Amino acid sequence: MDKPIRLAILGSGNGTNAQQISEYFAGRTDVVVACIIYNKRDAYIAERAKKLGIESRYFGRADFYENHAVRDYLADKQIDWVILAGFLWLVPQELLQAYPGRIINIHPALLPKYGGKGMYGHHVHEAVVANHETESGITIHIVDEHYDRGTTLFQARCPLTPADTPDTLAEKIHLLEKEHFPRVIDETISGRK
Ligand code: GAR
Repeated sequence: MDKPIRLAILGSGNGTNAQQISEYFAGRTDVVVACIIYNKRDAYIAERAKKLGIESRYFGRADFYENHAVRDYLADKQIDWVILAGFLWLVPQELLQAYPGRIINIHPALLPKYGGKGMYGHHVHEAVVANHETESGITIHIVDEHYDRGTTLFQARCPLTPADTPDTLAEKIHLLEKEHFPRVIDETISGRK
């Protein structure tokens, strides 16, 4: 049998997407979530990783941008694809080189709208509601050297009503993320997309 595809998930916060992706692939022999990396020491994603029985590790700014620690760790873990699930820093050049076209991000809006530096998580939902948009959604894309600019793999939309708040929109977005992100990862890494 072929060697399984090995994924690393990078996150910064709550980790709901990391958990959903891990649960989706649990029990699969062809795809393995090998590790979860986070860059905020007290991030809840670390708790989730522990409960899931997946190795997790904190790396700070220098580890990403100066001393090659993240690159070396991913190489050591024989990672094939990197998944950004709520990871909020610009991906270092050396990781883009190590994983060309093999880093996938999810963004909680319909890019190219509401993307770019500082546009993440709740900030996105606040801006969408403040602008009285009638729809929002998710964008899953390949990562390049710019924030939120790489090739789009998939988008899904949800309607917004005047009654929506950033919190209710966040709930709608999380449902879309749960429904689509693991599957789109699966299809992309298996070359079915
Ligand atoms: C998700 O909604 C994801 O789309 C967003 O952060 C949230 C992380 O939640 N990502 C970005 O805003 C990237 N620019 P989670 O930690 O519970 O998965």
